[in-house]
Amino acid sequence: MHDFPLFLDLHGKAVLVVGGGQVAWRKVQALHKAGAEVRVVALELCPELAASGAAHLAEAFDPAQLDDVWLAIAATDDGELNATVAQAANERRLWVNVVDQRELCSAIVPAVVDRKPVTIAISSDGQAPVLARRIREQLEAQTPQWTGALAALLGRLRDKVAQRFVSFDERRRFYEALLDSDVSQDLAANDAGKAEAKALVQLEQGAVQPGWLKLVGAGPGDPDLLTLKALQALQAADVVVYDRLVSEAVLDLARRDARFIPVGKEKGCHSVPQSEIEAILVREALAGQRVVRLKGGDPFVFGRGGEEVLAARAAGIGAEVVPGITAAAACSASSQVPLTHRGLANQMTLVTGHCQPGGDEPDWRALARAQSTLAVYMGLTQSSHIAAELVAGGLSPRTPVLVVENGTRPQERRFRTDLQGLSDTIATAQVQSPALLIVGDTVTLYQEAS
Ligand SMILES: C[S@@+](CC[C@H](N)C(=O)[O-])C[C@H]1O[C@@H](n2cnc3c(N)ncnc32)[C@H](O)[C@@H]1O
Repeated sequence: MHDFPLFLDLHGKAVLVVGGGQVAWRKVQALHKAGAEVRVVALELCPELAASGAAHLAEAFDPAQLDDVWLAIAATDDGELNATVAQAANERRLWVNVVDQRELCSAIVPAVVDRKPVTIAISSDGQAPVLARRIREQLEAQTPQWTGALAALLGRLRDKVAQRFVSFDERRRFYEALLDSDVSQDLAANDAGKAEAKALVQLEQGAVQPGWLKLVGAGPGDPDLLTLKALQALQAADVVVYDRLVSEAVLDLARRDARFIPVGKEKGCHSVPQSEIEAILVREALAGQRVVRLKGGDPFVFGRGGEEVLAARAAGIGAEVVPGITAAAACSASSQVPLTHRGLANQMTLVTGHCQPGGDEPDWRALARAQSTLAVYMGLTQSSHIAAELVAGGLSPRTPVLVVENGTRPQERRFRTDLQGLSDTIATAQVQSPALLIVGDTVTLYQEAS
């Protein structure tokens, strides 16, 4: 961030605008809206400015005109005069905005979405005004007109809410419940009285937002691959319990003030035992928190999501599961190697190469089938054993394999090999987790540059 964002209260405060044309007129309009006492310095005024009611100093600019103002705006088409105004303002340590001359500004005027008392200001630090305007248009469309009425209603309730609820957490949960209720529909229908009456009933009843638990699939890492539902859950969550595989870019989309609990799992080294993760989820949801259990890929594909749902059920909590894009789908898409393809594969199997000690190992020989794609998760360590078993089961040693490391992430790497060369490729390229092995004839469709 280059500039420090700040809103100024200009009510009743003198602001000097130098310039008498249309540009100055637009600035004066905005300043009047903000309640400023505007003085315009210009030998002549355009008709709109003349009719604006701003005090007019029909004289040349003089630095002394800045003596008792709070802010200066230079809006002339004379670059030299604008620079003189900026210099005089700087000497007095006055904030100055010079229209269309970013280098002379100590203050810039952002593009604004106005839903009084809510104001959204957008600045590109003068680098990309067209982009800032485009963002403003999008926000204009997305921010309902009744947003201001809603903010005003919450403002009117503030003291009563503070009396009703002692703790900050309860107050927050009351407001969350109110925002989720249908008061906004009344405001949308222009019935502020009805909205306020409903809000007061909710306050009387002490209605606070109940806690919830959502198991959310974070996808393979690229934040654009989150579902809309996942994004909504993430942005509503008070607590985010996340795995090592969840990318920073996805975590950045959660609320800044959420509590983040890492329960990172490395292969063979579970930093937080599964039972403890389940206890955290249950404890937080029962305490009224909105909990997102964020898991790489899909929660129900090698993610132990089932165990967490069962633990929540046992505690009387109804957990919701938000699916995510699993690594097989993501790596298939990013490498453009289909998992099924007419003539090459009419079935696919998602299988794990990592098994608990003493646990059931997949029957690799039975998986060695023609016209079939295998997506092997966590298969790096056991790659040589897996390849040998698949060959023993009847697959050709030349069966193509694609190794995808960090699929969909900026650092994605891919290696095209075959079963007989698999473990050497992994060793030579020092492939790291997370990586997926795609085994089968659809890999023949892979193109290096894709
Ligand atoms: C514990 S499993 C979790 C799978 C996850 N629930 C899913 O649906 O993708 C972790 C394994 O998924 C695979 N994986 C996850 N993200 C990946 C990615 N971005 N690229 C390649 N493989 C990935 C790797 O095999 C990794 O070792």
